[in-house]
Amino acid sequence: MHHFHFQNGQLYAEEVPVKEIARKVGTPFYLYSAATLKRHFQVFDQAFSSLPHLVCYSVKANSNLAVLRLLAREGSGADIVSGGELYRALKAGIPAEKVVFSGVGKTAREMRQALEAGILMFNVESLGELKVLSRVARSMRKKAPVAIRINPDVDPKTHPYISTGLQKNKFGLDLETALEAYLLAQKDPHLEIVGIDCHIGSQLTEVSPFVEALRRVKAFLQKLKSFGISVRYLDLGGGLGIVYGNEAPPPPEEYARALIEELKDLDVTLVLEPGRVLVGNAGILVTRVLYYKETPQKKFIIVDAGMNDLLRPAFYNAYHEIIPVVSRKRPLIKADVVGPICETGDFLARDREIPQVKPGELLAVMSAGAYGFVMSSNYNSRPRPPEVLVSRDQYFVVRKRENYARLIAGEKIPDFLR
Ligand code: LLP
Repeated sequence: MHHFHFQNGQLYAEEVPVKEIARKVGTPFYLYSAATLKRHFQVFDQAFSSLPHLVCYSVKANSNLAVLRLLAREGSGADIVSGGELYRALKAGIPAEKVVFSGVGKTAREMRQALEAGILMFNVESLGELKVLSRVARSMRKKAPVAIRINPDVDPKTHPYISTGLQKNKFGLDLETALEAYLLAQKDPHLEIVGIDCHIGSQLTEVSPFVEALRRVKAFLQKLKSFGISVRYLDLGGGLGIVYGNEAPPPPEEYARALIEELKDLDVTLVLEPGRVLVGNAGILVTRVLYYKETPQKKFIIVDAGMNDLLRPAFYNAYHEIIPVVSRKRPLIKADVVGPICETGDFLARDREIPQVKPGELLAVMSAGAYGFVMSSNYNSRPRPPEVLVSRDQYFVVRKRENYARLIAGEKIPDFLR
């Protein structure tokens, strides 16, 4: 459910015509709906209301400060994976005690920042990391709150690039090593065991892999108990999928019901790290058609947004629905929708049935709120697009379009080349 809808043949974001915003801010641009973000958070959070729980929004999915602030106001915590994300989360007003820190490559410096801030827990992913965390905590005369991220070896049945809970993935620890980590942490005066963590992948469209992972975590908790180890927090990560095309992911209520059923007999606070499900369908990318081109083999709609703006199609062959912002009767054609980047992989859609739009027309690339702007780059020296947030009948540029000065900011021609 989202607040992008047609009214008199025109695409609106809440109460604002998308065309209007394009006229003012230019194209391409990302557009988010505040009402959708709010609703998604509330539906997700309420689904777990019968259980002690904490929703830690996965900042990597969309880390714009305004988005973070909106979610903070709804009561969200944050799942972070870098010092930069910690900085953003705190700036946006997410309390440190609602922040969990995941990721396989935390540096000592990032650990220090997080300990200083007083985060809820570190989701530790290796023995080496555990050692460094203990050293950092000792140097600060603190005790670091830890959870060990276990790799339950469950197949999430999603794209291989975004599956993380298989033994061949770099994430988490196998059960044997995880036990070793817990036993080391147990006797370490600078570490405090507070939780257990697991995240098996992203864009999951079935509940069963989550349940399977949770069962394995539960069995492992039993084992920990026999060593006198207990936890307060059980972090099940993120990963719930959304509709891009013809997927049918379970709604949050169904996902929650299945997890709650498994958790009845446990005395823990459930931590969740949803990303995509909160922001994915709350955002679109608006782009303008530059040219139409036909080769003997193919038709191309060339638009002003490229893989540097939205990487998902090029990177994962991901499907995003693309619709004209102004709908009118026109023939359907089969075409590639491509960007201006000098790469064959620079496409937003391939062999897509799409209305025959003309140069100058606007297209909306749907479901682009998650892993959209955050994965954008300056490749081909293209300034990154602005991000705009709509709330009812108003819109706000929440990140301005980059300019050429910004493109080269920080670069320097050394003296010997002067
Ligand atoms: N927690 C951890 C530890 C994660 O690694 C992730 C995502 C999440 C939570 C949030 O997952 P979500 O609820 O959004 O599925 N760039 C890819 C997705 C990469 C996901 C990385 N980790 C894409 O565009 O599909």
